[in-house]
Amino acid sequence: MWPLSSLALTVALSVALTAALPPPRPATPALHPIIANGSSVAVPYMGEAFLFCSVAEPTRQVQWRDPSNVPLPAWSPTASRYHLGSGKHLPHAYLLFRDFRQEHEGVYTCVARGGAGQEGRASVTLTLARPSVPRP
Ligand SMILES: *[C@@H]1O[C@H](CO)[C@@H](O)[C@H](O)[C@H]1NC(C)=O
Repeated sequence: MWPLSSLALTVALSVALTAALPPPRPATPALHPIIANGSSVAVPYMGEAFLFCSVAEPTRQVQWRDPSNVPLPAWSPTASRYHLGSGKHLPHAYLLFRDFRQEHEGVYTCVARGGAGQEGRASVTLTLARPSVPRP
């Protein structure tokens, strides 16, 4: 009788599917990078700046991205902005400017990645510090 065998098949199938499901994944801690300098920093014209991003949770990589979301280059003698310390397995990264100019203004993002593929971000807005108008 087919309704019965169809029921048996359905039961057998659902048992098989349930058995094939992977066990629930253990919760992976979310990553919360923290930029020590707050959410906005004004840097003097041609000034140097040093920004620090750190992550409390176990982290595979910490990276700084420029306002176009492009990873910043590592140090080189000619780079006017670069990152330091974002090697693998380090829970922090530095963003450095050698000679801050107007074209460097914008939102810079610290991106942390964990071993399980989880990601966390924090951003800081950098602006050029306008010289204060001298009082008479
Ligand atoms: C950002 O924070 C770091 C760590 O506290 C500090 O050394 C650095 O001078 C700060 N940078 C700016 C531009 O305030």
